Amino acid sequence: MSNLNDLLVESRIFANREVLSPHYIPKKLIFREKEINNIERALAPSLKGERGRNLFIYGKTGTGKTSCSKYVIDEVNDIPNTRARISYINCRIYNSRYRVLNKIVSDHLPTYAKRGYGAVDLYEKLTSWIEEDSKILVIVLDEIDVVRDLDDLIYTLTRINSDIKAGGVTIIGISNKVSFKESLDPRSLSTLYETELVFPPYYATELYAIIKDRVLTGFKPGTINDDVLHFIAATAAKEGGDARLSLKMLSKAGELAEDKRQSTVGMKEAEEAAKLVESDVVYDLIVTLPEHHKLVLYAIAVLTLSGGSYKKLTDGVDTYLFSGEVYNRYKSITESMHKEAKSERWYRKYLSELEMQGLVAAFESGKGIRGHTKLIKLLYPPQKTKSVLEKDIFGTEASDSK
Ligand SMILES: Nc1ncnc2c1ncn2[C@@H]1O[C@H](COP(=O)(O)OP(=O)(O)O)[C@@H](O)[C@H]1O
Ligand SMILES: [Mg+2]
Repeated sequence: MSNLNDLLVESRIFANREVLSPHYIPKKLIFREKEINNIERALAPSLKGERGRNLFIYGKTGTGKTSCSKYVIDEVNDIPNTRARISYINCRIYNSRYRVLNKIVSDHLPTYAKRGYGAVDLYEKLTSWIEEDSKILVIVLDEIDVVRDLDDLIYTLTRINSDIKAGGVTIIGISNKVSFKESLDPRSLSTLYETELVFPPYYATELYAIIKDRVLTGFKPGTINDDVLHFIAATAAKEGGDARLSLKMLSKAGELAEDKRQSTVGMKEAEEAAKLVESDVVYDLIVTLPEHHKLVLYAIAVLTLSGGSYKKLTDGVDTYLFSGEVYNRYKSITESMHKEAKSERWYRKYLSELEMQGLVAAFESGKGIRGHTKLIKLLYPPQKTKSVLEKDIFGTEASDSK
């Protein structure tokens, strides 16, 4: 029950919230010296006026890819008298060839881009700008996998190098999708992957150091103890070594303590924060799934929750579903929506993709249980998964869900 007055009162917990924000890039990125060095090496030739090799960076979310790249970009931008020019492009916003071209032109030739030219004009303007004093243009495409016409974009950007008489273009692609490689056209693949750099997930000890560092400036002294930080680091490590997640848990725990008007953050708030942040993550993951993946996942959530009506295996802790029965349920749900269910072959493909996303786990049953069958386990809270999907698929929440 906060009112404006409460909000204006000085925080008991936080000293500086800004350093906890997901957009904040710390001055020092620990445990990433080697990766930063690799990006610098890819950019070094461009500082000398030569075209460097393209670089492809990948790794799970929250492993520091964006922060490290921006860190190096800032370094390069601080170097005077170089022919290198950089465009950093967040492809979630600029998600087509045209938008990317327009963004590059507006970064460097702002008055031109505003005039609404077509792709060909932008391309010509860009090439003559590069040629005029042999510039090296470095294009950083972050979350490159979301570009709709990516093969066209890569083709266009590489073509610049054969169309210009002086200067050059280097591409740095970044992706959170580890399996993205397989979806690329072979030509784009050989262009992008001249060199590659993998960002590994952070260990719990590394996450601990990362959040500890933010606590020193972000929290008031003595408000949060090491046990709480170790718990947050360990939880985020289990969830895939995601630094963003650990920072979200940290600030959420602080907010919860503040809401309760406490002067310290306890284990209780940390545990609560971990649950809340985890369900945000599930939500983000689920709503971006394609339709039939959602329907399969929905069938899994419903069956996991259903009581005695459905035969399932449980070892007292976990529930395992039979793959064939999940398929039947998926089929009846799909048909009840007057849609056509996909064949079992497709269904197995959806399952393995849900498995890759870490939403479900599948096991071979081994002998004894109906010959050989696949067993499926939902890895996220079933009630939450079900209600998110219900809202998303049917636009309603069932009465029995929270
Ligand atoms: N080595 C690090 N040291 C300090 N903070 C980090 C480090 N790596 C990541 N972070 C923080 O974690 C968050 C996520 O990092 P980000 O670079 O966006 O990851 P990615 O692009 O791989 O998803 C950012 O808020 C960033 O400040
Ligand atoms: Mg990123």
